[in-house]
Amino acid sequence: MFSNTRTNQFLPVSNPDDSSKAPLLNGSHPVGDEPIRRLPRKELLVVVSGFLMFALFVALIVANVGSNENHVQNNANEKGFILSSSTTEKTTPTETLRPPTSSRGVSAGVSEKANQILGGESYRWDNNVLSWQRTAFHFQPEKNWMNDPNGPLFYKGWYHFFYQYNPNGAMWGDIVWGHAVSKDLIHWFHLPLAMVADRWYDSNGVWTGSATILPDGQIIMLYTGSTNESVQVQNLAYPKDPSDPLLVNWVKYEGNPVLVPPPGIDVKDFRDPTTAWYTSEGKWRMILGSKINKTGISLVYETEDFKSYKQLDKVLHGVPNTGMWECVDFYPVSLTGENGLDTSANGLGVKHVLKTSLDDDKNDYYALGTYDEKAVTWVPDDPRIDVGIGIRYDYGIFYASKTFYDPNKKRRVLWGWIKESDSEAADVQKGWASLQGVPRTVVFDKKTGTNLLQWPVEEVDSLRLSSKEFNRVEVTAGSVVPLPVSMASQLDIVAEFELDKKDLERAAESNIEFSCSASSGSAERGALGPFGLLILADESLMEQTPVYFYVAKGTNGTLRTFFCTDQSRSSKATDVNKEIFGNYVPVLEGEKLSLRILVDHSIVEGFAQGGRTCITSRVYPTRAIYGDARLFLFNNATETKVTTSLKIWEMSSVPMKPYMSNHL
Ligand SMILES: *[C@@H]1O[C@H](CO)[C@@H](O)[C@H](O)[C@H]1NC(C)=O
Ligand SMILES: *[C@@H]1O[C@H](CO)[C@@H](O)[C@H](O)[C@H]1NC(C)=O
Ligand SMILES: *[C@@H]1O[C@H](CO)[C@@H](O)[C@H](O)[C@H]1NC(C)=O
Ligand SMILES: *[C@@H]1O[C@H](CO)[C@@H](O)[C@H](O)[C@H]1NC(C)=O
Repeated sequence: MFSNTRTNQFLPVSNPDDSSKAPLLNGSHPVGDEPIRRLPRKELLVVVSGFLMFALFVALIVANVGSNENHVQNNANEKGFILSSSTTEKTTPTETLRPPTSSRGVSAGVSEKANQILGGESYRWDNNVLSWQRTAFHFQPEKNWMNDPNGPLFYKGWYHFFYQYNPNGAMWGDIVWGHAVSKDLIHWFHLPLAMVADRWYDSNGVWTGSATILPDGQIIMLYTGSTNESVQVQNLAYPKDPSDPLLVNWVKYEGNPVLVPPPGIDVKDFRDPTTAWYTSEGKWRMILGSKINKTGISLVYETEDFKSYKQLDKVLHGVPNTGMWECVDFYPVSLTGENGLDTSANGLGVKHVLKTSLDDDKNDYYALGTYDEKAVTWVPDDPRIDVGIGIRYDYGIFYASKTFYDPNKKRRVLWGWIKESDSEAADVQKGWASLQGVPRTVVFDKKTGTNLLQWPVEEVDSLRLSSKEFNRVEVTAGSVVPLPVSMASQLDIVAEFELDKKDLERAAESNIEFSCSASSGSAERGALGPFGLLILADESLMEQTPVYFYVAKGTNGTLRTFFCTDQSRSSKATDVNKEIFGNYVPVLEGEKLSLRILVDHSIVEGFAQGGRTCITSRVYPTRAIYGDARLFLFNNATETKVTTSLKIWEMSSVPMKPYMSNHL
């Protein structure tokens, strides 16, 4: 797709060896010399043998349930633009154990980063319970706060992952770039910080950015800096030593910033550059997020050398009333092929995905549409489900996501930040906050033609240990069936459900519009649902996180299927998020209902119908932990039995390590 590879005209941005102009970060940061070692997991679980005695079919506990229930062209060396006079507030992340009344993120001019709670009494967490919350196979730093995924890329045999990181505490603030590498997107080695806040143009934070790999293999990193005056500007960085597969050292371009907010754009509404793509005229384009009044927009810039840019006089796209667009992403998907596409791919058989993270509601929305290079527009296939008002990547907790093209396996991979949904005080007590979701491959759903399919990268399968299989288990209306697994905190579950045909025909029609979030969760019984699994339940079902389908029969007889996760009874603690998540999931004629769930301690990721609808939740049980965590099947429908086939794997733990040269 790079028909015109005039490689010599691309950068080299500056002399990477001229360290007087671009001092290296190596050795000057807090963690570089001190390898991080992840504490050994306190694994694991007491097998409750009595529980195992229950054969699936005999131990049918009936939980029967009583009654009912342009323009600006920035000159890279331009000086003297007037920046805002906003004050910069320094916060000491560890000084307080109470959530502040106004968020540090918002006061610093970015989105709300902490979980908004909620009232409720603070739960007294003991360290044993908190320790359990750390995951076995999700990406997380050794300690402290993490947020957005940054600049993911594949280089010389290694996957690189950078992330927004606070080296000083478990709350947002003092943001720099963490860095880790992996051969398989699963086993990670922590590396020294890639970039710290050591320049006036990023002294209030080295914020989110993206990588672009040029045809000759050069890596360009564009990121947002929050200046000494809290103005959002775009900066250029590149590896100091391109021959180092680990890309340990990064150089910031001497001409930074390369972009400043144009007239008409607030200095705090200008952030998160995307990966650039190549045009047929041999230029690179990139977008970033902004807003004008309440219209969320993506500004478009064109460059030949990544040092000087021209703002195109149109926005790529904008949607009224969606507010600030953060972390925009723009990429092609193939309408016919199985593989992912390089970000520069275009032409016949290609659609483009535009994604925005809405600052106003903290959710990631995407839409499929058509990109017109000449007109510099992207037009949604269906304006009713335009970006920001239609489909979400995930209906639970999933934000600030970013994709990259993986040339190694010819796929597009999606990373998403999964924040905590407990209290900030609890995060401070446990010493860390946030996870990254399991990386997901993203493809166009050829069957529906209206959505993407997201699925855990295949490498996740390599973590599967012993499996248990259950075929055609009948679960009658109103029952709960225990599933004998011994490590219920680390599971990969694949399940299929069939409703009884006669029951389906017989079931009463209803004109009530169902919605997961407005329902009372798995306790809301309908004719044809809910049914699914009770995740992280204790023996008494006092704590449980149901992940389930709910089928609604409309007055014209049509069935609509919903996929939900009910956190309302996930924990005895009151100061944690207990929303009921979910949405409609397309089910085509002749398809069974299918579901995959990854359980990894405090994170539960659900994928329905091959990844058409996804829900990620963070749950914080107090009893259903370690050896006391249980797994159940349930059917709380009133008028149908369901036949279920399942395969359940216990998942191994991945130790995270500092990189050592003998791993090469
Ligand atoms: C099924 O619904 C009943 C009545 O609303 C409720 O008490 C019960 O907890 C529900 N079962 C599950 C597994 O959610
Ligand atoms: C921010 O840095 C710029 C460039 O060094 C400098 O001109 C300006 O005075 C600084 N502003 C403040 C508030 O220190
Ligand atoms: C933004 O809102 C202001 C105040 O309502 C209005 O005067 C202005 O024209 C709006 N700007 C745009 C680009 O719509
Ligand atoms: C049936 O009703 C639903 C919901 O009201 C509507 O979306 C759907 O288009 C209708 N289907 C037919 C075949 O009329």
